[in-house]
Amino acid sequence: MTAISVQHLWKEYGDQIVLEDICLEFAPRSFVALVGPSGCGKTTFLRILLSEESVTRGSVLIDGRPIAREPGADRGVVFQRYSVFPHLTVLGNVLLAAELPRAPLTGRLFGAARHAAAEEARALIDEVGLAGAQDKYPAALSGGMQQRLALAQAIMRKPRILLLDEPFGALDPGIRADIHTLMRKLWNSCEMTVVMVTHDLREAFTLATRVIAFERRRDRPEERARFGATVARDIDVWPRRIAGAPSSPGRDDPAIETGHGRDDPALMSA
Ligand SMILES: Nc1ncnc2c1ncn2[C@@H]1O[C@H](COP(=O)(O)OP(=O)(O)OP(=O)(O)O)[C@@H](O)[C@H]1O
Ligand SMILES: [Mg+2]
Repeated sequence: MTAISVQHLWKEYGDQIVLEDICLEFAPRSFVALVGPSGCGKTTFLRILLSEESVTRGSVLIDGRPIAREPGADRGVVFQRYSVFPHLTVLGNVLLAAELPRAPLTGRLFGAARHAAAEEARALIDEVGLAGAQDKYPAALSGGMQQRLALAQAIMRKPRILLLDEPFGALDPGIRADIHTLMRKLWNSCEMTVVMVTHDLREAFTLATRVIAFERRRDRPEERARFGATVARDIDVWPRRIAGAPSSPGRDDPAIETGHGRDDPALMSA
């Protein structure tokens, strides 16, 4: 059960303020969708949660403790493209995700440990719908299959936090719907808190428990570079979804497409 606490976070690159005084609390097992205009700092925010980037001021706590300085197996990530290794097969890619943390020098497990990891990898490949493709190389997979593989690779490491940077942005609508179903299943079955950047509001409300919009202040356009993005909207998705309760309603119902604000009386009485 992993909570993320972001406290007065500022991120600057030279003179440019990218993120300005971001304060957010993510509950354990929440599924947060992050939206906002291009360049407002969404990827930067994810990279900070991955420890690939440092904060200029402020702090990030994971379960109340300062975030590790280095990326670790506790945080998995899937990008829009190129998350998988092209020179390894599907099985090789998923297996490597298990082997690297346990055998960091050789990247290989041997004997019973390898056998067990391979069994686990095969089960996961099956679960993400890639059964039968385990010996193929990524170049022989469709975009949707590659993202299924990237998800399997991330999940194999049993992350407590899964970070997704527009992972489904390049997929056709039909394929996207299928992979949304898979994503929902993984979120329900794995003990993880998810933060997903997306450009697609419909996708955000289809999957998330909470939708957050970053935006830069617009009041003084000539000074925009001097303002970073702040939290412009923070919407609890309603009806509420709870991880591990697959019966919680899906978002394919257009009547519940718009979501509700935090001050919505319907939420207060929940
Ligand atoms: N390593 C870096 N050095 C300097 N500037 C950077 C660096 N990384 C990001 N930036 C700047 O920070 C701002 C935010 O970039 P970021 O990639 O986080 O935006 P984004 O919201 O993910 O955009 P998009 O929706 O297009 O992916 C941009 O102006 C970008 O040029
Ligand atoms: Mg980005």
